[in-house]
Amino acid sequence: MRRFVVIGQRATASPDFSLNDVAGTSGRLDVLLRSIRAALMISHGLRTDAVVYLVLLGGHAAPRTVRIEGAIARFLRPDERSLATLVQKALAAPKTPGYPFVTLRRGITVFDGGLETVLADLGPSTFYWLDENGADIRNEALDLENPVFFLGDPQGFDEATLARLSELRAERICLGPVSVHTDDAITLLWNDSDRRSPPA
Ligand SMILES: C[S@@+](CC[C@H](N)C(=O)[O-])C[C@H]1O[C@@H](n2cnc3c(N)ncnc32)[C@H](O)[C@@H]1O
Repeated sequence: MRRFVVIGQRATASPDFSLNDVAGTSGRLDVLLRSIRAALMISHGLRTDAVVYLVLLGGHAAPRTVRIEGAIARFLRPDERSLATLVQKALAAPKTPGYPFVTLRRGITVFDGGLETVLADLGPSTFYWLDENGADIRNEALDLENPVFFLGDPQGFDEATLARLSELRAERICLGPVSVHTDDAITLLWNDSDRRSPPA
């Protein structure tokens, strides 16, 4: 299972954003929406061995986390507006009192809480921190059985997340000499991973 955790420093944890201007009204949630596509979607299907977590640290409802599981999610569409609509519905879904999460439908879950909630959900794993100044991925042996890849947003990572990743001894890996968009970093990561271990 490959898991991706995208930290949205300002990405809104509430559904109060405009579908007509997601980038301008949501703290750059658009970057995280594109990351869903990059992490889970391939031509004509979903990667069933992947899960993506969007950690939403922006706005009055933060922190919250949206988890999307490629193995069981259905009817995901790759265009940004559809993904924005899906995440908006998930963030607006009524909570069941006493439960720290809401399942919008199979494979789409919203948790109260941010990074610590994600870490509790992940359990023991090999942590990789995607960092432009990390070790070149081409020279690294990767755990492809149970890796978790952490990625930042257009501003990189916030200080608290950086401190936690250091504490977890996450391995810093670099994908190449250019700092690319988060969703493109996920695509490069998948390409590397697919080459090392081609899907059956
Ligand atoms: C747009 S970049 C962030 C750039 C930001 N200005 C910074 O200083 O970190 C978004 C995220 O994609 C990942 N990323 C982008 N390019 C990368 C690269 N060449 N190697 C590793 N990770 C990369 C990192 O996780 C980064 O936080």
